[in-house]
Amino acid sequence: MDGNGRWARSRGLERIRGHERGITAVRETVEECARLGVEGLTLYAFSEENWSRPQLEISMLMRLLKKFLVEERPTLMDNRVQLLHVGRRERLAPDVLRILDETIELTAGNDGMKLGLAISYGGRAEIVDAARRAAIAVRDGALDPEALDEAAFRGFLYHPEIPDPDLMIRTAGEMRVSNFLLWQVSYAELHVEDVCWPDFRKEHLHAAFRAFGRRVRKFGAVLP
Ligand code: FPP
Repeated sequence: MDGNGRWARSRGLERIRGHERGITAVRETVEECARLGVEGLTLYAFSEENWSRPQLEISMLMRLLKKFLVEERPTLMDNRVQLLHVGRRERLAPDVLRILDETIELTAGNDGMKLGLAISYGGRAEIVDAARRAAIAVRDGALDPEALDEAAFRGFLYHPEIPDPDLMIRTAGEMRVSNFLLWQVSYAELHVEDVCWPDFRKEHLHAAFRAFGRRVRKFGAVLP
């Protein structure tokens, strides 16, 4: 969800105002994806690298996150969305974890779209954590190392129940993967949108889906 800071700065506002406006785009995107029958949506809200931002911006982002997790509960319930946390818990403050866990628990029975919220997330960190869990399973005799193939390894990722993305959308013209879902995006189609995240609307989402529909996906094979 790139470009919150640029959106604000270009209007002479503090960066946090861009993050605040970004919530509107989050709400609209979640509702529209759920309505259209998307099975899984993962939003990159806070990366492992984002911990190096100024403390004031981090605490404002965490406050915004808590507000979002409480205020959006009716939206999640109305749209039968199941919330999942994608990332590490260690550096998140107890009050953030409490509100996050409460919202996860509240939505656990929802049978609609799975919404992964990537917070304190890094793609390499996820692969390292999965490798560690697999190693522990081998050590404990629960896993035969010869049986560790791609499907088995996938099971050690944070939330294997969220399907691998078919489409990765980046805003504000950014052309990088930025350590996002490194394992899962292997065959994802990339779509780069020039608008900054606070201006991202369902029309942009529809345009991304239409562009996706025109892609020819070969998964490394040769088409007949
Ligand atoms: C990237 O823009 C955005 C973030 C690091 C935070 C994203 C957070 C939100 C959209 C609001 C909170 C989200 C949820 C789901 C509660 P940037 O700050 O890097 O902007 P820039 O690239 O213009 O500097």
